[in-house]
Amino acid sequence: MQRLTLAQRPTRRLAKEHFRLEEIAPPRADDAFLLLRTCFMSVDPYMRTRMQPEGYDYLPHWQAGSLLSGYAIAKVEESRLPGWSRGDWAVGHLPMQEWVAHEGDGLRHAPPGAPPLSWLHPLGMTGFTAWLGMRLLGKPGPADSVLVGAAAGAVGSIAAQLAREAGARLIVTAGRKDKRDWLRGIGFECVLDHRAPDFDAQLQRAAPEGLTLDFETIGGTSFAAAIEAMRPGGRVIVCGLISQYQQETPRRAPPNLNRLGERGVAVIPFVAPHYEAHFETFLEEMTPRVTSGRLHWRLDMVQGGLAAVPGALVGLFDGDNLGKRIIAL
Ligand SMILES: NC(=O)c1ccc[n+]([C@@H]2O[C@H](COP(=O)([O-])OP(=O)(O)OC[C@H]3O[C@@H](n4cnc5c(N)ncnc54)[C@H](OP(=O)(O)O)[C@@H]3O)[C@@H](O)[C@H]2O)c1
Repeated sequence: MQRLTLAQRPTRRLAKEHFRLEEIAPPRADDAFLLLRTCFMSVDPYMRTRMQPEGYDYLPHWQAGSLLSGYAIAKVEESRLPGWSRGDWAVGHLPMQEWVAHEGDGLRHAPPGAPPLSWLHPLGMTGFTAWLGMRLLGKPGPADSVLVGAAAGAVGSIAAQLAREAGARLIVTAGRKDKRDWLRGIGFECVLDHRAPDFDAQLQRAAPEGLTLDFETIGGTSFAAAIEAMRPGGRVIVCGLISQYQQETPRRAPPNLNRLGERGVAVIPFVAPHYEAHFETFLEEMTPRVTSGRLHWRLDMVQGGLAAVPGALVGLFDGDNLGKRIIAL
């Protein structure tokens, strides 16, 4: 069977050569309580941060030779663990290999009633992140002007809808025309291109009275533009800084960061793993939005199994995906 490891750490741009697909003997059913067959694997921007030599320390760093891992949906093929039966769907953070012998720790039964693949997006880590940023931390309401970057992507698309549902005025951004068309198609009226050279001017025109909430996913020049547009007393939810993950010095602050202090803007960074205790509340709130069809969510499914992971992950940083990128094994 196949597994995917890191062949060497990238120093700048991630490339397929940084990965190694290996053939190993499959695990046996009696190696652990559960024998799982991995069916769908999520690829996510944070995977690149795990390849950095330092910083982003909320997850262990990957070294040359590390077995990669990610959020995945697997089928239980054999079980000696009470509560699990052959044929069950299991969701969890799994090694990137086709078969996994597992003790059951940290593994969840897929929530009932929702389409299985929603467990890797609106009811999974990306939906949880959007929910934390908007419902728990940012808490936008009708008085808010909210900017959501990379809004045709996984977290951004859910975060923007949660803010809109709360009555806020939304400015959403995406770096490609088909993505902006999709955002208009699901009802967003103010859709900008964060990759445009005049993004700062576009943003000033779109929010002449300023932003009260920036849900930051990108960093770099578009974050600097958002900072300029912040109203006094506003808040910045720092969800991610994807434009920085491939930089050799990835934690450099935007040059106008001091503006936030001058204007009394609160900066609230967060990482989802620190909020595990809220996961059940999140599921209770989000599941009806998914099962009723109220929430728009889109998958960007890549075929080809583990061999497709390197190209799919590299592509996230070029903006190849529209919606949540997932690999079918
Ligand atoms: N805080 C947390 O716990 C947490 C959890 C999950 C994700 N995140 C963060 O949330 C952000 C979005 O993650 P996601 O999983 O939802 O990914 P995603 O938005 O589905 O995909 C990444 C998107 O980011 C944009 N992008 C990539 N490289 C860029 C660059 N150099 N400059 C500008 N835009 C770039 C592209 O969109 P365009 O084509 O529109 O430019 C790309 O499609 C990331 O910053 C991620 O690290 C944080």
